[in-house]
Amino acid sequence: MKHRLNLLVNEIEDFYTNIRDIGIVPDYDPEAIRSQLSKFDFETPVPIEDVFSNVTDMMRKWTIQITHPRYFGLFNPTVHVSAIMGDTLASLYNPNCAVWGHSPAACEIEEHISKFLLRQFGFDPEKGMANFTSGGQEANHSAVLTALTRAFPGYGDKGLTELGLKPVFYMSDGSHHSFNKVAHFTGLGRNALRIVDIDDDLRINIDSLRTKIRNDREFGFHPFMVTGTAGTTGTGVIDPLTELADLCREEDLWFHVDAAYGGAAVLSEKLRSLLKGIELADSITCDAHKWFAVPFGAGMFFCSDNTVVEDTFRIGGTNYMPPSVEGTRDFYSTSMQWTRKFAGLKLFMAMAEIGREGYADILEKNVEHANHLRNELTVRGWEIVNSTDLPVVCFTHPVIESGKITTKYILNNIYKKGETWISDLQIKGNPVLRACVTSFKTEKKDVDFLVRTLEDEISF
Ligand SMILES: Cc1ncc(COP(=O)(O)O)c(C=O)c1O
Repeated sequence: MKHRLNLLVNEIEDFYTNIRDIGIVPDYDPEAIRSQLSKFDFETPVPIEDVFSNVTDMMRKWTIQITHPRYFGLFNPTVHVSAIMGDTLASLYNPNCAVWGHSPAACEIEEHISKFLLRQFGFDPEKGMANFTSGGQEANHSAVLTALTRAFPGYGDKGLTELGLKPVFYMSDGSHHSFNKVAHFTGLGRNALRIVDIDDDLRINIDSLRTKIRNDREFGFHPFMVTGTAGTTGTGVIDPLTELADLCREEDLWFHVDAAYGGAAVLSEKLRSLLKGIELADSITCDAHKWFAVPFGAGMFFCSDNTVVEDTFRIGGTNYMPPSVEGTRDFYSTSMQWTRKFAGLKLFMAMAEIGREGYADILEKNVEHANHLRNELTVRGWEIVNSTDLPVVCFTHPVIESGKITTKYILNNIYKKGETWISDLQIKGNPVLRACVTSFKTEKKDVDFLVRTLEDEISF
């Protein structure tokens, strides 16, 4: 037993400590991966040492190493060791978070961290509620279900068809596409999701939103919800949350803030003001597995009103389930999932060890590094094309704008070298490059490395 666990501990230590020596971008060769896997036929047992060495070898060789300090990618984090410990302990005890009575410690640990974060977002923790989810998509799904339940009494029992309703909801062109899937899952249909154009600062255009809502009402649709994003996936911009909240109040619409990425900024006194207006939301998505730097499987859904969440996920007749305990709640009847992993432990352990101020220092350092990147690019003739205080930098260069060189060409060369990782996207139809400082291990020298790499790609 000890020998097996030592394998695990040694790998965690070695990978975490020596990540800088590992290539970030692998060679993609599906056949090589399948060939290595072919020795596992599940008929002949394989000693765990062999299984272990094959898995670690494959993971090191054939993974884009998102925990590398020079990964300037999507919102994928480097993870804290305390959070890895939390995930491991959650697997060891394997408490089922469906019912409080089976897992009192786990459920109370989650409630404890949830209440702390509810307060950070400006919600009343006694009136509000938070659920751990698989990720941002499930949290956004929870928000749509909750908003529907509040807007249309009878939705939960009769369904929209019997009620004869045509609900529609709104978000900007920069918002996350999980809502398209949610529109499908909920039976609203993807056409029920109204996409609002973005202004010059890439934020939702409030006038267009207002006009769309009014036109929809005139044509017999039933608007029920608006999503503002705090840290859009592509460009990291924050929608005007206070104005959105005001409009939602005027129009009696549910106001959801998708802060899957940017929500962590509430931990920093310097950055918190960027999220001004979030406290006016009816619900919030915030992923611990993004800027809180814990392993995946830790999204969160926050709601300012626990009664509507209880109504949304209520379930009766479950006499096979263990009994409820007075003064506690059973997550299977107040959230999307039934049997659920103890997802909150990794966040609890990381937050407890690092503390709010420790987290704030990390986030502020990421922001400083992104500002350094903006400056270094600008003085070398690159142009920053997004305006955000979050560490997401979108940029172009005259040689890209003139069509002499494409973003794909630059990326291919960078990926071939395998020493750093950035992405590209289109903003208003124009291809641009994107670098997000996501790792708490990223240092100034890593940003300088990226700048040198970019300069090499355009000097010909
Ligand atoms: C703003 C935003 N919302 C929601 C999501 C979906 O989150 P998840 O992938 O955790 O389901 C993402 C993912 O990057 C995101 O950036």
